[in-house]
Parts: sequence; C-alpha cells; structure tokens
Amino acid sequence: MSKVETLRQGLEEVFSLPLIRLTVSNPRGGEYKKITGRPMEVKGQPVLQLEKFTETQAFHENIPMAEAADRLEGLMAHYGQLDATCQGAVFCLKVSKKGKLFFQKQAAKTLSPLPAAHNRQKQYLITEGMVVPPLVDLGVLTPDGRIVKAKYDKFKQINRFLEFLDDLLSKDSRDTVRIIDFGCGKSYLTFVVYYYITEILHKKADIAGLDLKKDVIDHCNEVAVKYGYDGLRFYCGDIKDYVAEQAPDMVITLHACDTATDYALFHAMEWGARYILSVPCCQHELNFVVKAQALPPVTSYGILKERFCALATDAVRAKLLESRGYEVQVLEFIDLSHSPKNLLIRAKKANVSEKKRLSARKDAQTLLGQLNGGNTLLKLMGGKPAFVPHGRMRKTRPEDIDAVMALYDVGRARMRECGNTEQWTGGYPHRHMIEEDVRLGRSYVYEEDGVLHAVLALIWGEDPTYAQIDGAWLSDKAPYGTIHRIATDGQLPGLGSWVIQWCLDLCGSIRIDTHEDNTLMCRTLDKLGFAYCGTIICDEGTPRCAYQKDV
Ligand SMILES: C[S@@+](CC[C@H](N)C(=O)[O-])C[C@H]1O[C@@H](n2cnc3c(N)ncnc32)[C@H](O)[C@@H]1O
Repeated sequence: MSKVETLRQGLEEVFSLPLIRLTVSNPRGGEYKKITGRPMEVKGQPVLQLEKFTETQAFHENIPMAEAADRLEGLMAHYGQLDATCQGAVFCLKVSKKGKLFFQKQAAKTLSPLPAAHNRQKQYLITEGMVVPPLVDLGVLTPDGRIVKAKYDKFKQINRFLEFLDDLLSKDSRDTVRIIDFGCGKSYLTFVVYYYITEILHKKADIAGLDLKKDVIDHCNEVAVKYGYDGLRFYCGDIKDYVAEQAPDMVITLHACDTATDYALFHAMEWGARYILSVPCCQHELNFVVKAQALPPVTSYGILKERFCALATDAVRAKLLESRGYEVQVLEFIDLSHSPKNLLIRAKKANVSEKKRLSARKDAQTLLGQLNGGNTLLKLMGGKPAFVPHGRMRKTRPEDIDAVMALYDVGRARMRECGNTEQWTGGYPHRHMIEEDVRLGRSYVYEEDGVLHAVLALIWGEDPTYAQIDGAWLSDKAPYGTIHRIATDGQLPGLGSWVIQWCLDLCGSIRIDTHEDNTLMCRTLDKLGFAYCGTIICDEGTPRCAYQKDV
C-alpha cells in the first residue's frame, strides 16, 4: 500500500470511532510546533477544534468534523507524527525520516466523553473504565477501572480540577510542566495530574506534592516508585517553610486548610508561577475576629457569618493576587451537593496595569479594614488592613477639652516609649493652647462611638515658623494647611495616617513638621508621600524636620 493510501486508511479508522483528542507533532517544515485537536459542538454542529501552537502563541480553528480527515491528511505532509485517542482505541501514525509511514492501533479502556459544547459543559477527562493505576492503589478505582462508591465525590472533584487544569495547559505549548501541589494529602489529585500530563497530554511532568503527614507522604512515594513515575515526588513538611529546588509553572491546592492556602498563594506569587489553581477550605481567620456587630444582619447568625467570612477571605486573596499581576477568576468548583468547599481561585500571570494592581490591593485592605480583621496573605506581603473610619472628624468642642488633654498625655507617653524625649517637653501642648485652638475653630477630633481617638490643630494660611527654612519647600502652593499638635490614642491602627490624609483632602496642600526623634511620624509622612523639605525652628525654639505634600 502506498504512503498516501496507508495515511488515508489510518485516518478513516481514527474517524470511524468517537474521537477524544489528537496531537500532531514533530514538524517537518510545518508552521506550528504542535497542533492538538478535540471534538466540540459549535452551534449544534460537530467540529474538530484545532489548537495550533507556536513558541509563544496558540491559535484556534474549528473545522467541520466531516472535513477533519482531509485536513489532517494535508497536515501530515508537514509533520512526522499523529497520535489520536478515541473511544476504545489509541492510534499512532508515524512518518520515518525516509518518508515511510507506520500505523499502529491499540485497544484502550476508555470511554468517550460527550462532544463538548462550546460553553464547556461538564466533560470527564478521566472516565470510568479508564484504568489510572495509582488510583487503584489509592482506593479510588477498582482494578477494572470502576469508581469505588465511597470515593465518588473525590473522583468528581479530581475530574473537575482536571478540567480547569486542562483549560490552562492545553493552551500552553511548553513540553515540560512543573507543578507543586500544596497540602496534597493522599495525593489522589497529584497522581491524576501526573497521569494526565504524561499519558494524555504527552508532556513531561515535574511534580512535587507536599503535606504535613509523614506516613501519607511515604506511601505516596512508594506508589510513585512502583509505577516508575520519576517526575513525581512527595515531601513531608509545612508549606510555610517550603523551599523549591526550581520555581514551578503552576501551584495547585485542593482543600489546603485555612491559612495553609495563604502560604501556598504567597509562594506562588513570590515564584511568579504562571498559573495558580486553588480550592480553599476552612477559612477561619476572619471568623475568629469579625465581631457580631460588624455587619449586623449577616454576622449575627453563626452560619451566615462563617460563610460570609470565608467569601470575604477568598475575595481578599483574589484581589491580592491581582495586585501582584495575576488575572484572577473565582469560579464554582463543584456543585454544593458534592462539596460545600466549592470555590476555585484561578489565577494566571498577566500584564495587569499598575493602576489596577494598586487599586486591587487597596480594595483588599479596605475590605479587611471594614471588617476589622486580618489576613495571612496580606501580612506575608507586608501589608496591613486599611483604616476604615467607623466614626467621623469634627471640630473640638469646649466640653471635649478634658478628653483631649488625656489624649495628649497618651501621645506624649507613646513618644517617650519610642525614645523621643525631646519633643513635647514641659507640658506642651498646654491647656490654654488647646482652648485657643478650640476658640479659633481650628482644633479637630476623630470620634467613634462617643470616644475621642485623635486630635490635631489644622491651621490655614502662612505659618510664621515656616517663613525661614534650611532647605526649600516643595512648592509655593497657597494657602496651605499646617498640622500641629496631632495625637492619637493608638487604639485604632492606621488612624494617624488616615487623619493626615483627611487634612490633605481638605486643604490640597499640607506642611507639617516633627522632631527628628519622632521616627514614627517621619515614617508615616514618608509612607504618605510627603517630601522632606529641610529644617525649620518651631515655636518651642528648637529645630524640626519639615515636610510638604500637595495634591
Ligand atoms: C483536606 S486535606 C486535602 C488533601 C488533598 N489535597 C485532597 O484534596 O485530597 C488537607 C491537607 O492539607 C494538609 N496541610 C494542612 N496544613 C498544611 C501545611 N501547613 N503544610 C502542609 N500541608 C498542610 C493536611 O495535612 C491535609 O492532608
């Protein structure tokens, strides 16, 4: 039989069976590095969807199924190999260097998935009847490939996870995929992912699983050795302390408990992993701290509070991933009847604009601030929840003066604790100064639930002590506001910065001075973007560091 006849006959055999997937590889002058194909249904018509990979891109093309064999025949003039997996059989067409064509057909214990609708209807990638050997050892499948009844939910979860993975990897033209599965447990998923990448995608896999449980990890390593899975290994340890030999392309977690997910996401971000698939669970961190009165209708009922806190935690995680340049989706992982832990965070490294990244981080911090709670991922990234006011700024009234003087006592004591012994000595600021500030309507307090937490004097117009500066002011913007005598009680983290920002928003230009030993204030001003302008002599007659910011 001629080469053309063998090829045509081979393709006819392939298309006589329901196709699951095919790969055209080994280019011999072909434009693409590799081409994969799978059956789809578009507008009710069966098509073969080709995905054509260059080094950096993937192009899609849908061909009516009736024309698929002809098209592949044409393609095989420029490629050396075609592998096709069909229901019941696996085919391999190889063209030797001398142009001879070899055709192989092997029986396969697979069931075909239904043709996928273009909107990606459910499609099992590992189907009942397909013998994945380690899953037999792990008790998910019987030796003849049937699902063990008690493991049906796990089987569904693994398949669903695989769908998300397939969505990312089938568009990735790299030959080797490096993955870390954090909190792998018995590693059903890890083994299936390895099997899927090597046996179905025909790529190389370099996969590590990590878990705290030594006995489980030992068993997983034994199973990996038994099946000669040399690209798969398991380690015993805490995610927190994990050091990767080589940064992975993808980090996966399936139900890594509570903050273990945050550590996993943090590692992924630090490595710049291209993909992250994470199904979190047991998000308790906010639940422990969010007070019942935070969002009364929701947080006063235990179950609603728990679910709300879990959702808020995942929302914060998603935003923080965005802030590190990931395109993020939060998707339904599996329907609630199979697992209540049913959200999946899918993140893909992308070109996210600076503006979007900053605003995502701010959103996460603001939500945490509103809830008065923390988040491990944010802490690992070196951030804090934003201060979110639950009270308001208002002018100080004469009847507030005792409370204000108490605030100054606290402020002075905090200065001393931080080693600042030179500022606000001799009882400064004196009661008569505060009375004067109040009389002139330039003293403000921040009040929340009837308690005063901060005080300051905000003075409009030229400040005589600022007329002389050893240095130069940032601009001549006038009039400007000057903040004096600012103090907080330290009970509300972030309040000091928020109060200064409030003044800035009101005045448009703020000048402020502080003692060089007041490191806390100097740091706050730096963080808020104030420019250090030089030294002035303050009304206490001593030098002060002067700062300015215009908006
Ligand atoms: C609910 S199981 C999920 C196991 C597996 N991913 C699955 O879906 O079948 C959670 C696993 O995370 C592991 N784990 C929790 N915290 C961890 C940590 N800090 N470091 C490593 N593993 C952790 C636990 O030992 C447990 O095996």
